[in-house]
Amino acid sequence: MENFIYDNQTKIIFGKDTELKIGQLIKPIGKKILVHYGGGSIKKSGLYERIIKSLEKEKLEIFELGGVKPNPRLSLVKDGINLCRKESIDFILAVGGGSVIDSAKAIGIGAKYDGDVWDFFEGKTQITGTIPLGVILTIPAAGSESSTGTVVTKEDGWYKRSAGSLLIRPKFAVMNPELTYTLPNYQTACGATDMISHVLERYFTNVPNVEFTDELCEGTIRTIIKHSKILMKEPKNYASRAEIMWAGSIAHNGLLGTGRIEDWASHSIEHELSAVYDIAHGAGLAIIFPNWMKYVYKHDINRFVRFANKVFNVEIDFKNLERTAKEGIKKLKLYFNEIGLPTSLSEAKIDGKQLEAMSKKATEKGTVGNFVKLHEEDVLNIYKLSL
Ligand code: NZQ
Ligand code: ZN
Repeated sequence: MENFIYDNQTKIIFGKDTELKIGQLIKPIGKKILVHYGGGSIKKSGLYERIIKSLEKEKLEIFELGGVKPNPRLSLVKDGINLCRKESIDFILAVGGGSVIDSAKAIGIGAKYDGDVWDFFEGKTQITGTIPLGVILTIPAAGSESSTGTVVTKEDGWYKRSAGSLLIRPKFAVMNPELTYTLPNYQTACGATDMISHVLERYFTNVPNVEFTDELCEGTIRTIIKHSKILMKEPKNYASRAEIMWAGSIAHNGLLGTGRIEDWASHSIEHELSAVYDIAHGAGLAIIFPNWMKYVYKHDINRFVRFANKVFNVEIDFKNLERTAKEGIKKLKLYFNEIGLPTSLSEAKIDGKQLEAMSKKATEKGTVGNFVKLHEEDVLNIYKLSL
């Protein structure tokens, strides 16, 4: 096991009706509040009204900026930065999913920085401060509610890039599973896939003796698979919504990566897809992850055998470990199909025209991944396997 520091400041407020006390929660930390949200799902569900009422009750000054698109855009982040500076906003409340939260994180760091906020995403400078941020989560998926990252797309050239720091973990995340009842099955499935991918990015490591987090990873994936399947038939099943919501946070709050060296190749390869083709991140991962697995499994066949056995209960064929490893990959792919996601580029109606350009962009700063370090040619091979 590697040395590590685990530092997670995000307070989780979990359960029914938890959003009703949002005003009380923010009052000690902020006075001028920017409420940031997406394309309207929170207005349709009535959540927006409940939040505003609670903030007004505590006499907080409210500003708002809606319109965050899935795969959030840099231009809106810049609008948010200008608004925060003009109005001296001292707290940002993100109401939504990963896209809204990431946009809010980028606004928070950009407002405290004199240069161009994109500098953080290009790695030109480190994050040194932010406007504090809180979250009301409406879709369990990205784990951004307690992660250290933000992912934004720059429209000029369609670059989707991330920036990160312990400083941008939200102060709190309000998580009421009932708020996710309105999610279409497709979004629930994309969310489950993203969570599983967050675990797998940590699971496939070269670090030995990480038994405790191996077990946590396997249990988390099994739980997500079980309850996402239930939700495809019963979208208002509270027990399953709750399991998924909590698992999604744990999948990406850093706990499962403690003591390990994480991979993240599949995410880098996927981010090019969602940047260029604007597909949901989870759907992109359902296409890329099984093909990344096929490409690298020979690097450590025992790890893939363990995955097949512990996650999908595949009996180990000791005479043919490769068969067992491949069976695990096949089962993961079948699960993605079962919950209605594409597992090839053609199923997602994406042709091969941009693959070379995407491989180049994915590796412009060097190789991607740690489990196996992938060069431009490897990334291209994985895209081709995914056709
Ligand atoms: O915009 P609205 O109207 O709110 O609709 C959203 C959006 O269309 C809808 N939705 C959300 N809650 C709903 C709802 N619809 C009905 N009922 C509800 N309760 O769902 C759609 C997708 O929302 P989005 O926020 O885009 O989804 P997600 O949480 O999957 O976030 C994806 C983004 O997060 C990034 C991804 O790359 C992508 O840009 N990621 C962020 C990470 C991080 N910051 O740590 C890590 C991840 O790996 C990921 O890269
Ligand atoms: Zn992800």
